Amino acid sequence: MNARESVALGELDVVRPAAPEPVERRAGLGVAEFIENYRKPRRPVILTDAAHDWPVYGRGTPDFFRRHYGDHTVRVRGRDYRLSELIDMLEASTAESPGPYPCKFEIAKDFRELLGEVTPRFQYSLPDRQANPLVPQGLFRYVNNLEIFFGGPGGEFPYLHYDVMQLHAWITQLHGDKEFTVYAPGQEHLLYVNPEMPWQSSIKNHHHPDYELYPLLRQAQSQKIVIRAGETLFLPCGWWHTARSLNMTISVAFDQLGPENWRLFVGDVTHERRRLGSPGKALLLGTYLSVLGPLLGLAELGGANRHSGWGRR
Ligand SMILES: [Fe+2]
Repeated sequence: MNARESVALGELDVVRPAAPEPVERRAGLGVAEFIENYRKPRRPVILTDAAHDWPVYGRGTPDFFRRHYGDHTVRVRGRDYRLSELIDMLEASTAESPGPYPCKFEIAKDFRELLGEVTPRFQYSLPDRQANPLVPQGLFRYVNNLEIFFGGPGGEFPYLHYDVMQLHAWITQLHGDKEFTVYAPGQEHLLYVNPEMPWQSSIKNHHHPDYELYPLLRQAQSQKIVIRAGETLFLPCGWWHTARSLNMTISVAFDQLGPENWRLFVGDVTHERRRLGSPGKALLLGTYLSVLGPLLGLAELGGANRHSGWGRR
């Protein structure tokens, strides 16, 4: 079913979205084909070899992290642990009694030793405009540049969201299996969007939702995607998602701001300024960014915004 259809739900007339297409797994995909078939039309895809050039690729097991970074101190829920201690704790956890999740760390700030292990940034995720000095860097103050997640069996991400400011999400699984529940954009009327944070759903406990409280959620079309060690999920801008660890998992995630999501990015950041009561600032920022977009596009034809490292601030 491709066309949307309207269905009656009690007193409510609800637009029912199309059933999702299965997400493909691709290997050896050319960058031009990726852009044409996935990034431009905003279709998710699993790339089985995108992170092939990372030194950690194929080696990022819990034992690898214990051996090489076991003494590294990490802070979880206000307490310091050695990384080896945290991994022991997560490995010992069960779905019935899950360990803390997400245990995530910003690599460039909290785990710099790892930077070389997850470089280069792969070509599919370029160009990226976040580091461009003409883009106001304050916009990204709450966006982590590059994160590593450690999770034990049953660890559940706490809320349903799309990546803030309509950034594309990239998630690479170093170890274990992670299940994503995803919803295509356009289903916001069914997802109980939090008016204070319009990129998040206000549904509590999304993994086991109370349909009495959230009846419209039943009409939404979701799909589950499991990514395995070595695989990278490309989740285009605006796709709603949440995740859970099926076993001991280690993942690396980052965002992309490129030409295809620029217009939606501008829409989101200006909408946020208006929501916060600054219509004048929203207009100025929107005008500036709307002019800047095509200029960055021209510069990218000449190779701009293609750094293979992770610098931003
Ligand atoms: Fe996300």
